[in-house]
Amino acid sequence: MQQLKFRNQNTMPALGLGTWKAQGEELVRAITQAVKMGYRHIDTAMIYQNERDIGDAIRQLIKEGVVSREELFITSKLWNDQHLEEHVAAAVANSLQKLGLDYLDLYLIHWPIAFKPGVVLPESSDDYTSLEKAPIYKTWRAMEAIKENGLAKHIGVSNFTIKHLVALKHYCRETPEVNQIELHPLLQQTELRDYCQNNDIILTAYAPLGSGDRHQSMKSAQEPDLMELESIVALAKKYQVSPAQILISWHLNRGCSVIPKAMQSQHLSQNMAAVQIQWLPEDLVMMKELDQQYRFINGHFFDCPEQGYDWVFA
Ligand SMILES: NC(=O)c1ccc[n+]([C@@H]2O[C@H](COP(=O)([O-])OP(=O)(O)OC[C@H]3O[C@@H](n4cnc5c(N)ncnc54)[C@H](OP(=O)(O)O)[C@@H]3O)[C@@H](O)[C@H]2O)c1
Repeated sequence: MQQLKFRNQNTMPALGLGTWKAQGEELVRAITQAVKMGYRHIDTAMIYQNERDIGDAIRQLIKEGVVSREELFITSKLWNDQHLEEHVAAAVANSLQKLGLDYLDLYLIHWPIAFKPGVVLPESSDDYTSLEKAPIYKTWRAMEAIKENGLAKHIGVSNFTIKHLVALKHYCRETPEVNQIELHPLLQQTELRDYCQNNDIILTAYAPLGSGDRHQSMKSAQEPDLMELESIVALAKKYQVSPAQILISWHLNRGCSVIPKAMQSQHLSQNMAAVQIQWLPEDLVMMKELDQQYRFINGHFFDCPEQGYDWVFA
């Protein structure tokens, strides 16, 4: 399994297991299978409401001697209603308690947007906390304290653009170590990737398969299907693998981390096998032509200009 290096030379398994939209017995079973197959990196978030299930699965696996805590790499994320400096420590403590862990390997600010405490998803502009009242740099300072206190080995952000990262840089004792963003051949984010590479920030790709299982209300009318794109299907034929494996291995060959969500055991094993695929340089070059800056998760659902949040990805 490829490992990506943090600035302090600690490592993160490049392939992880996404868990958004997964809960309960199905998730416990999938985590158990995944770890037995060799997965070590699991991505969750407070908002996925599955930290307790993941904790149950991990505890059992450690008890059975399948894996040790130190071998696992667990990421969780701060939800948007906990951005005030004084709320961050309680939020991480809550995630740790549900996961049954003493520390996270990685803790991320989920979105560069603040809601009022207790708001899961905003219904009106009153549900937001303005950028003035909850500036991101203050949330970040609380994240730095989390790391200093040993509650997370590494800290980072998610859904941050270059603009957000540059703005934050002035206030950081330590800049984010990871930025988790939507990334796939139709949204290659080359400028952001170059910025992250030049600033020692690991990029993690979410929705690498197009997030096809998210709720219909989150989808636009005519979404492309990544796994049916002509070039992806042709590459799958050429390398004698599946389109999903091509989509996953592209990130690994590009130096990024990738966290496909998979509950079905054939998906879990296929995705794990994708780490073996070595791309020819000319195929990596050819992929650049597919970029359309197309987002499956476009962030418009969090627009709130009244509170200082214009389109998050602007
Ligand atoms: N930071 C953020 O704001 C953010 C946003 C979105 C996602 N994420 C993270 O990124 C992870 C991945 O993104 P995502 O869950 O949105 O979508 P995704 O990984 O792009 O797609 C998941 C879908 O692909 C299917 N699948 C998995 N492996 C497959 C294979 N080999 N062949 C065919 N289909 C396959 C899954 O099916 P089965 O489950 O039935 O196996 C599921 O329906 C999330 O789970 C979450 O951890 C983070």
